[in-house]
Amino acid sequence: MGKDTKHADETHSGKEGQGLGKPVSRRDVLRMAGIGGAGLILGATGVGGIMKAAGEVLGTRGSDKVEAATGDMIGFYGKHQAGITTPSQNHILFAAFDVTSTNAGNVKKMLKAWTAAAAAMAKGEMIGDVNDNGNLPPSDTGEAAGLLSSRLTMTFGIGPSMFDSRFGLAAKRPAALADLPAFGGDELREEWSGGDIGVQVCADDMQVAFHAIRNFARIARGTAVLRWTQEGFQRSGAADPAGATPRNLMGFKDGTGNPDTNDGEEMNRVVWASGSDGAPWMDGGSYMVVRRIRIRVEVWDRSTLQDQEATFGRHRHSGAPLGGKNEFDQVDVNRKDANGKLMMPATSHVSIARGDGTVKILRRSYSYSSGMDNRTGQLDAGLLFICYNRDTRKQFTPIQTKMGQSDKLNEYIVHTGSAIFACFPGVKEGGYIGDTLF
Ligand code: HEM
Repeated sequence: MGKDTKHADETHSGKEGQGLGKPVSRRDVLRMAGIGGAGLILGATGVGGIMKAAGEVLGTRGSDKVEAATGDMIGFYGKHQAGITTPSQNHILFAAFDVTSTNAGNVKKMLKAWTAAAAAMAKGEMIGDVNDNGNLPPSDTGEAAGLLSSRLTMTFGIGPSMFDSRFGLAAKRPAALADLPAFGGDELREEWSGGDIGVQVCADDMQVAFHAIRNFARIARGTAVLRWTQEGFQRSGAADPAGATPRNLMGFKDGTGNPDTNDGEEMNRVVWASGSDGAPWMDGGSYMVVRRIRIRVEVWDRSTLQDQEATFGRHRHSGAPLGGKNEFDQVDVNRKDANGKLMMPATSHVSIARGDGTVKILRRSYSYSSGMDNRTGQLDAGLLFICYNRDTRKQFTPIQTKMGQSDKLNEYIVHTGSAIFACFPGVKEGGYIGDTLF
């Protein structure tokens, strides 16, 4: 899970685009619907329609007053996409789409419409024209009306399959967007794998996150369809106002060893692709790996505390490396006790995932609970593992290869889904998602 740092990417202050017009915040919509609302709406001049050029302000009818809840907003536009190094929210709704149209023009049109919708939703505004024509379906599905933006982020990427013969993009496929190899212990299922487009939506409110994915699916109609989705969560800010490292469903703090998202140079090394890596259109983007990992919680719950701690190489309560006291104590995988025995077993998850400490990834995972496995009566719960890296071939893949071979954690988990996406650089105002490629 992502360590909830205080970091906020300068480019995602949530303030950009405010001078473009008078968008209708979702909270204004409720106010307008109350006293004299109809007059306000009818008296305005905006033009609606989500298919308008990206960057243009949509839904400009309505109140003069725009709710300024910037503390709750993570701006959509910027050098990098939000949702990567910006702090983790309480919920995730991940969705993979398949493109059904074979026309690149239609894909572009959809991405432009997604951009306009995403820019509005990030600010807590309605999509399109609130004064919808009664003879047409509304341009916003409405369930987020009155809700704050809830630190909503929407992060878009495309999978290797987008570079097949359909859209003439084959020559632009980055070498770093290599198909993931099969790893030891994989039990991947088609229903949770792959996708032409991946959209990671995170928010502090699940209804706000759902609203975003639902509207992307609605806008995509005729061009793309949902392939798979997965919801996830971590303890909420309300339950843990201090913002300590969240615990995963195995009871351990998860995210402690993540690289520091405040360290720009480290982020350049670990997370952000550079144009000089071979694909100029990915400059400022990042590669996202998604793994749906089921945890055999019933088996885990029968293992001893000692065994659990040896599995991770960390103490459960404090999160400290075995033999240490505090969560952020220096990790030394070679440290031995008085009898010459490694404090952190060589097969422990942290020992293996860390290696010599030179190969890193940025994890941004969430727990998931998808009800019950009807075949076994056991919980279908686990980790929606998501990581970002500059080059998956050099980072995620070697780590996961080692883990697949000898991680003690494998006794308790099984990878059931897998996908990789090249996440575009951030969108500049007036531009659209993926414009550096298309
Ligand atoms: C259900 C699956 C998993 C669980 C429950 C899990 C849990 C944990 C925990 C508790 C830690 C120690 C605290 C921390 O640094 O965050 C950790 C560290 C780590 N995990 Fe995982 N993890 C899982 C899967 C993965 C996968 C698939 C990868 C990548 C291939 C991975 C890579 C790492 C890395 C790089 C570290 C930090 C090691 C360090 O430098 O200290 N984990 N994980």
